[in-house]
Amino acid sequence: MFELREISKAYGAVNAITDLDLTITPGKTTALIGPSGCGKSTILGMMIELVQPDRGEIQFKGTALAPGKLEQLRQRMGYVIQDGGLFPHLSARHNVTLMADHLGHDPQITDQRVEYLCDLTHFPTDALGRSPAQLSGGQCQRVALMRALMLDPDVLLLDEPLGALDPLIRFELQTELRDIFQTLGKTVIMVTHDIGEASYFGDTIILLREGCIVQSGTIDDLTNRPADEFVERFVRAQRTIPGQEHGK
Ligand SMILES: Nc1ncnc2c1ncn2[C@@H]1O[C@H](COP(=O)(O)OP(=O)(O)OP(=O)(O)O)[C@@H](O)[C@H]1O
Ligand SMILES: [Mg+2]
Repeated sequence: MFELREISKAYGAVNAITDLDLTITPGKTTALIGPSGCGKSTILGMMIELVQPDRGEIQFKGTALAPGKLEQLRQRMGYVIQDGGLFPHLSARHNVTLMADHLGHDPQITDQRVEYLCDLTHFPTDALGRSPAQLSGGQCQRVALMRALMLDPDVLLLDEPLGALDPLIRFELQTELRDIFQTLGKTVIMVTHDIGEASYFGDTIILLREGCIVQSGTIDDLTNRPADEFVERFVRAQRTIPGQEHGK
């Protein structure tokens, strides 16, 4: 679905990504995980062309990404950037339906879809008329998620989409989203800080450090066959791997 070849990206003196090769399998969920500043958002940003790599090539479905194809490409992907990226002057509803309205979709079908998405994300429908500033952080995050899911895209790129949610809603959404991803065969790339979440969603987990991939594999690979001492420490530092106690 995505092929990244020898990608490098620097911001001034900071090498955010160095010589990265990455293949994203269609129909699977890939979790990107790693310490703050290791380049996770930069990778996602390059896939949706918000960030231009300095070197290397990114292919989407066999075609190299190029600026001119941006709008067409964006319609095929749903994405949530790290801070949600909602338009502050638009209502929650309008944020969610913006693209569908722009594409001239039937308003009745759009309304039904919004209702379904509110139900899915436990977003209160009476808050749809409010602007992002009048919503809580967790509610904004759910609006961003609804917006990403609105057009039912085959590819979803999600940068910590559930980080601001309380544990109950987060748990329910994790369960329902994983069901949706698996049943509908979505290709999902999800950034998370939580290795429990990464292992719950991720068919493949990619652990990054300082702009490079340290290990790519299943949670079993990372826990039982860590590539190096950093992987071991990273996995051990988290308490939420399902079925395992901290320190075992
Ligand atoms: N626009 C920018 N200008 C300058 N430096 C940047 C910019 N965006 C990112 N960086 C730097 O590039 C590196 C990678 O940043 P990135 O946002 O990809 O990290 P991340 O893994 O998503 O971190 P986090 O887990 O905190 O979200 C960091 O050192 C960051 O400070
Ligand atoms: Mg980030």
